Amino acid sequence: MTPNAPSSSAPSSPDASPIKDRSGVRVFSGIQPSGRLHLGNYLGAIRRWVHGQGATESFICVVDLHAITVYQDPEQLKRQSRELTAMLLASGIDPDRTHLFVQSHVRAHAEASWLLSCVTPLGWLERMTQYKDKSQKQKSIKTALLTYPVLQAADILLYDADEVPVGEDQKQHIELARDVAQTFNHTYGETFVVPQPKIAKVGARIMALDDPTAKMSKSSSTAKGHAVLLDDDDADILRALKRAVTDSGRDICFSDDPEKAGVNNLLTIYQLMTGKSQEATLADFASARGYGDLKKAVAEVVIEEIRPIRERYRQLMDDPAELDRLLAIGAEQARAVAEPKLVEIKEKMGFAVPAALR
Ligand code: AMP
Ligand code: TRP
Repeated sequence: MTPNAPSSSAPSSPDASPIKDRSGVRVFSGIQPSGRLHLGNYLGAIRRWVHGQGATESFICVVDLHAITVYQDPEQLKRQSRELTAMLLASGIDPDRTHLFVQSHVRAHAEASWLLSCVTPLGWLERMTQYKDKSQKQKSIKTALLTYPVLQAADILLYDADEVPVGEDQKQHIELARDVAQTFNHTYGETFVVPQPKIAKVGARIMALDDPTAKMSKSSSTAKGHAVLLDDDDADILRALKRAVTDSGRDICFSDDPEKAGVNNLLTIYQLMTGKSQEATLADFASARGYGDLKKAVAEVVIEEIRPIRERYRQLMDDPAELDRLLAIGAEQARAVAEPKLVEIKEKMGFAVPAALR
């Protein structure tokens, strides 16, 4: 560990940072183009990014460099980056209010990742639960699977982001980004804003429909009955929700009891989709005749919200040139922030940055 590295629980206040010379909150988040989007992505992350637009300065990044930490078919990767962009726009990401771009279009991310890996102790990375989980599933573990959170730290720190809205599964990675920022600041002088993870109180962990004790995830999202996908048609959504695993009882209630995880998950989805309180949600099911009624009501609200997204998505996919145009603008906006920051990092570390690269 770096001798003067702070402990991982060191308190920090991003607003008090002397290097922050702009007003307003800056938000950064990312999402991998590595599978079809599901309801968990939507409720845990995307919808929150959409709602935050305008009130904050937002950067949303399609993290293709992260996606290749497990093998991606090259043709498919290209297609998936476009599809994800279209789905984000269809979900309400507004390119006039959000800088939406692809990570590999801004070279500073890869370069900053190397620089930050030089201040990141190996032990911090080996402790990451996502690394432990994912590496168990691989025959040959690639180096980048381990260094993945350093690239994520680079993504965030290059933009001096104040807030990082993500689902619960990313909390540990954002905490690592904070530790990396603090270590760098201690070693080379104040350089980075220390970012805060922003995790929703409700919906930060939407569970799988076929196994409500596991989170809904992209890697299993195409397995039958696992998830509602954002490009599913109405019949698929209805079928997936009707088949959702519940318990053998009849009690429709919010509960931490693992037995009730399926019902709890369905109620959470309903609550988020309708914007109702827990009480109002339960009141809607006071006269329900069983889980069948609950599943039908959840399917109705999900279908109503997903249908226009799917329709906009299909229109957007018909015009790939327009998607590329929007991404080119987003990348330019991102580079305008990331490139000077990279120069600052390099200068702090002692590189003589040639005038042409400033
Ligand atoms: P990923 O699918 O790993 O690219 O995640 C994209 C975003 O969706 C991240 O902010 C995740 O934390 C969030 N997310 C992924 N799965 C879920 C889930 N089951 N519930 C809530 N949020 C999720
Ligand atoms: N690791 C994140 C995920 O799988 C994606 C990501 C990459 C990200 N860079 C980021 C999220 C920066 C927030 C900020 O969901």
